Amino acid sequence: MEVFHTIADYKNLKLPVSIGFVPTMGALHTGHASLVQRSLNENETTIASIFVNPTQFNEKKDFDSYPNTLEQDLKLLKNLGVDLVYIPDVSDMYVLEPQIHVQHPMMNNVLEGKCRPGHFDGVALVVTKLLNRIKPDRAYFGKKDYQQLKIITDLSRDLDLGVEIVGCPTVRESSGLPLSSRNLLLEAGQRAELEVFYDGLKKGLDHELEINDLIYEINALLASTVDMYFEYLEILETTTFLPSERIDEGCRIFFAIKLPQLRIIDNFSVTKKL
Ligand code: PAF
Repeated sequence: MEVFHTIADYKNLKLPVSIGFVPTMGALHTGHASLVQRSLNENETTIASIFVNPTQFNEKKDFDSYPNTLEQDLKLLKNLGVDLVYIPDVSDMYVLEPQIHVQHPMMNNVLEGKCRPGHFDGVALVVTKLLNRIKPDRAYFGKKDYQQLKIITDLSRDLDLGVEIVGCPTVRESSGLPLSSRNLLLEAGQRAELEVFYDGLKKGLDHELEINDLIYEINALLASTVDMYFEYLEILETTTFLPSERIDEGCRIFFAIKLPQLRIIDNFSVTKKL
């Protein structure tokens, strides 16, 4: 007879293979491929999911315009060597209107949480459900959605889900623009303006500036575009998500750029550069 004292030990006993899980909403790109690749390297079995989760969209038009490229997605996942793909229906995920909510109040009051009321509650609920269903050893998320990664890390720890949450680097185009499923919605002119913006950003970051000067410079860069503005641009401590007083290892720049048909969110370490 074997005795075990922790869930980690229990899982070690029960599961002969380690499971890596990459949850997605489809419209897959190289950023997703890098998550899958990491999971393939670190686990014996890799499972991906494709589910456009309605409860995390605070605007119906954003949900309706979310890109759907299922056929290409399945080809990409197959070529990468994914073992299983989970594609649930909305009616299977939410059999009845959920009565239990999973919330991270601190994150709901800053950045994306403040701009998109209810968004993170929807993310936290669906990720809890997905992790409970798949029961992976590790789950992989991109640092592009840094706040989301923080919420999921906290939720796995606080709810004892027993899943290691692995944060993976943001994959960028050569201009610096982060890859995102929503980039498919960009018009050529907007893409060109964003390339100029990111180029200026990279150059600006090469000069060591004080926080206020840096914020001023970045604001000025976007001000020369036609129809883009910052919903927020902040330098925050990554543990507390409170405004940082100085530029050091423990802080990141976070911003959301609003375009007529989409938003671009990004964040990066100020000291490590883009
Ligand atoms: O980052 C995403 O694609 C989604 O928010 C996630 C984590 C798959 C939950 O729907």
